[in-house]
Amino acid sequence: IEKHAFQKDLINWYDAEKRDLPWRADQDPYKIWVSEIMLQQTKVDTVIPYFQNFITSFPTLNDLAEAEEEKVLKAWEGLGYYSRARNLQAAVREVVEVYESKVPDQPDLLGELKGVGPYTKGAILSIAYEKPEPAVDGNVMRVFSRILAMDDDIANQQTRKKIESCVTDLISHEDPSAFNQGLMELGATVCTPKKPTCLLCPVQEHCQAFEQGIQESLPVKSKA
Ligand code: ADE
Repeated sequence: IEKHAFQKDLINWYDAEKRDLPWRADQDPYKIWVSEIMLQQTKVDTVIPYFQNFITSFPTLNDLAEAEEEKVLKAWEGLGYYSRARNLQAAVREVVEVYESKVPDQPDLLGELKGVGPYTKGAILSIAYEKPEPAVDGNVMRVFSRILAMDDDIANQQTRKKIESCVTDLISHEDPSAFNQGLMELGATVCTPKKPTCLLCPVQEHCQAFEQGIQESLPVKSKA
């Protein structure tokens, strides 16, 4: 894969075509964090009004830290997976107490916070802090399994590791945020699970699955 052409094709497309989503309005690490936690098990269209209401209710990290848990859970009502909200508030309180209310920009420290797994960590570091760290979720795994025509099972933990190292190798150091969000956007809008619209894909010429005509049979996934 030609790294520079790939980066340019992906980032130019993202800059031109990205959806106007409320968490893309600024690079506040707190807002990026809230959005990424909400987006983990919930679709974009559902998240939008919850995100807006949540940020109106708790505009800053300190506001969320100081809020009553009951109010936080109330704002989460309908999103489900309530441990996400409890973990988020516990982690935000730790950031207030241990890091003077500043979300850590060091991978190791960020990754120790409750509810912050490898994906969320990479998303915050790249989107809020412009650090060249991978943020590999299900969408990004599908995109990469196709680009590389990988027959590895994406349910396997090894496969995630492999894709994380591919992204680490390929990511733009000039614009890590647009690179990672471009991959997410591609997975959400073009490189979809069924009937991907390869004719509209900005990285079609870099895609081994397209070249082989096997995009619809990838990724390989053993368990649901
Ligand atoms: N899914 C997860 N993170 C996202 C983001 N930052 N933008 C759009 N969809 C996402």
